[in-house]
Amino acid sequence: MHVFVTGGTGLIGSAVVAELLGNGHDVLALARSDASALALKSAGAEPFQGGLADLTALRACAAQADGVIHLAFGNDFSSPGALAQAVAEESAALATLGQELLGSDRPLVTVSGTPYVPGRASTEADPSPTDGPVGGRGRSVMAVLDLASRGVRSSAVRMPRTVHNEGKGGFAGMLTEIARRTGVSGYPGDGSQRWPAVHALDAAVLFRLALELAPAGTCWHAVADEGDAVRDIAAVIGRRLGLPVETVPQETYGPLGAIFATDQPSSSARTRKTLGWEPIHPGLLEDLENIQP
Ligand SMILES: NC(=O)c1ccc[n+]([C@@H]2O[C@H](COP(=O)([O-])OP(=O)(O)OC[C@H]3O[C@@H](n4cnc5c(N)ncnc54)[C@H](OP(=O)(O)O)[C@@H]3O)[C@@H](O)[C@H]2O)c1
Repeated sequence: MHVFVTGGTGLIGSAVVAELLGNGHDVLALARSDASALALKSAGAEPFQGGLADLTALRACAAQADGVIHLAFGNDFSSPGALAQAVAEESAALATLGQELLGSDRPLVTVSGTPYVPGRASTEADPSPTDGPVGGRGRSVMAVLDLASRGVRSSAVRMPRTVHNEGKGGFAGMLTEIARRTGVSGYPGDGSQRWPAVHALDAAVLFRLALELAPAGTCWHAVADEGDAVRDIAAVIGRRLGLPVETVPQETYGPLGAIFATDQPSSSARTRKTLGWEPIHPGLLEDLENIQP
């Protein structure tokens, strides 16, 4: 397939681009800077100059593709306003991509997040959250899935809290950055809350499988570790950086504080059984051993 990818230079997107190219697909990828265009070219993809806010560029790229994978996100968690702007930008971009594919039966695979269900691991059947600071992202994903009834083979690949590679990425990566900055490897609450995780190279395989096989309107879980206790994550970070490991106030984490404090394990049993996806790369605690002081 000729696949249009947004976010193809990111931690997950670069693995997705490599996975697609390694499995016989061509990749056209959105590049918002010369550096991104160069990185995509070196990876073997064809860059298309433009950003997520450039709806004309998105339309043109989707029009010439056999399928679309959307991963780009501003990832600006510095303030509620910045986060809201990134969510709004993504929402408009996804709506544009979906519109372009209407009636074509072509696949539109969007990134999403595993939901939180009190008292048990969430499953593929649980709805995406549509409230809270990133609730707008959930609403955009629901709108994409609804396009199943309008001739789009839409699907959502839900990411766990940490998608990692070489010890970097996701919530665990944020804990590492905060630890380096503050001199404490912290966690909110008693640290017994669990976050699910996956290696980026395993997640990339699931994006390809969803592109190739997922029926319209379906959700999949890229979950390798069902849930790692946050204090265990902080313990590895603290040991690797030679820093004390301590509980810290939830407010330390700004708009993400409440999410960081929540126990949110997730299962991928249905994904593994239905799509034959099987993660083979190191789990999070093993991968965090790659952190360098
Ligand atoms: N990593 C995780 O643990 C995790 C967990 C859950 C969900 N996710 C979601 O998965 C997706 C990819 O995550 P990631 O970790 O790979 O992110 P990342 O490493 O921060 O990469 C973000 C990608 O989006 C692109 N991008 C950002 N803003 C853009 C804009 N305005 N226009 C065009 N491109 C833009 C970046 O391009 P440049 O190269 O030009 O910067 C980059 O390719 C995101 O939606 C993220 O929220 C990630």
